[in-house]
Amino acid sequence: MNKYNRDALDIERVLVDEETLSALTEKIAAEIDRDVEASGKELLLVCVLKGSLMFTSDLAKKIKTPLEIDFIKASSYGGGTVSTGELNISLDCGKHNWANTYVIIVEDIIDSGNTLSKLIRHFEKKGAYAVKTCALLDKPERREVELCPDYFGQVIPNEFVVGYGLDVDEKYRELPFVGILKPEIIKKYI
Ligand code: IMP
Ligand code: MG
Repeated sequence: MNKYNRDALDIERVLVDEETLSALTEKIAAEIDRDVEASGKELLLVCVLKGSLMFTSDLAKKIKTPLEIDFIKASSYGGGTVSTGELNISLDCGKHNWANTYVIIVEDIIDSGNTLSKLIRHFEKKGAYAVKTCALLDKPERREVELCPDYFGQVIPNEFVVGYGLDVDEKYRELPFVGILKPEIIKKYI
């Protein structure tokens, strides 16, 4: 049963419901367990703030391999709905034994691919054993750089979505599903 709060009334259509989100996370967690176990390295999930907070949390609970969680804040978006293509890292991960670390950068969604491709380089420079990418949602139609996530949940159409961590102007992150806003609501943010 969805949590129907006032923000949910602004949703035109649910694109990925709670059950599907849970199943996708379960599938990704099993793939990660298999790969990390084979590597014998330490697993570090890097939550890309703020959008992937819910996804990272649910994923961490479903992964059986012991792991650490760290955070990075990188934004390529202003208050609106169009990528600027620029990446600002305003919060970086703490110290880790990078040479022994299997890094998985956990993203909510890949759009142009700019954020994730720049983050990959950022962690490669730290000397991580492996730098892998994980994205819950993917909008391949919008890609500006060649990038295919190592772990991913679902491809979605070229629509601006909110919920399950995803926001517009910091709103709607708390919704337990991913949905598309009503056109009259989207207009307020463009
Ligand atoms: P990219 O750098 O263009 O791939 O953008 C990635 C980031 O933009 C994601 O981590 C999100 O924070 C944000 N983003 C992209 N598409 C959406 C969307 O449909 N809704 C909300 N945020 C989005
Ligand atoms: Mg994000």
